[in-house]
Amino acid sequence: MILQSISVTLLVLATATGLIKREIRLERVEQIGGENLLASSGLRVRKYNRTTATLNGTFSLLKDLDGTFDISVKTARSALGNNQFNEYPMKIPRKNACQFIRDVWPEFQHWWQNCSNIPLVTKDGEAFCPMLKGHYWIRDLTMDVSFVPICIPAGYWRISWDFHESTGDLVLQLRFFFHLVIVQTILEN
Ligand SMILES: *[C@@H]1O[C@H](CO)[C@@H](O)[C@H](O)[C@H]1NC(C)=O
Ligand SMILES: *[C@@H]1O[C@H](CO)[C@@H](O)[C@H](O)[C@H]1NC(C)=O
Ligand SMILES: *[C@@H]1O[C@H](CO)[C@@H](O)[C@H](O)[C@H]1NC(C)=O
Repeated sequence: MILQSISVTLLVLATATGLIKREIRLERVEQIGGENLLASSGLRVRKYNRTTATLNGTFSLLKDLDGTFDISVKTARSALGNNQFNEYPMKIPRKNACQFIRDVWPEFQHWWQNCSNIPLVTKDGEAFCPMLKGHYWIRDLTMDVSFVPICIPAGYWRISWDFHESTGDLVLQLRFFFHLVIVQTILEN
């Protein structure tokens, strides 16, 4: 009982003093299919320092990404990191690519704002569409853990961007693999 209340106190203390830290570690990016839409083999995850990895390199969009495509995003978690992923109920429902750019880009584009030539939605919400075919570069893009809701458990995560043609067929899947780490420092004295 006493032990229990000590550990509760420690936990509260740790929370209050910000000693519980969350880190998101990008591990790899994988493209499945869609070789006639995207060439992503020039993208690499690089170790930047002990705790941070960055996305670096170039990719080519081989067709204009316009309203004839739909995009959806889904997530899956592997608690043990053994590549057995279970779908997780956190997703962005399927939207037309132009609508996706208008609605989703503004929430995330600060990630690539100063480290890529991927276009941005302007402050007054004016979206570009299509995303033109061409050559794009990304230099040392880091992810900010603050986009991960606080209730999301630690573990290995896969975020999949699914690209569908208007006929409904899935034409390309772009998968990002992350490790979400919750670091808890206990005061020793
Ligand atoms: C990312 O690429 C840039 C440009 O090629 C290079 O200067 C930088 O060192 C790379 N970052 C890492 C972490 O390898
Ligand atoms: C690693 O680099 C990131 C991004 O610049 C920085 O926020 C973090 O504090 C660095 N971590 C260490 C251990 O140096
Ligand atoms: C990008 O650079 C601009 C101009 O230097 C700066 O105002 C802005 O805060 C930067 N954005 C991010 C996300 O770092």
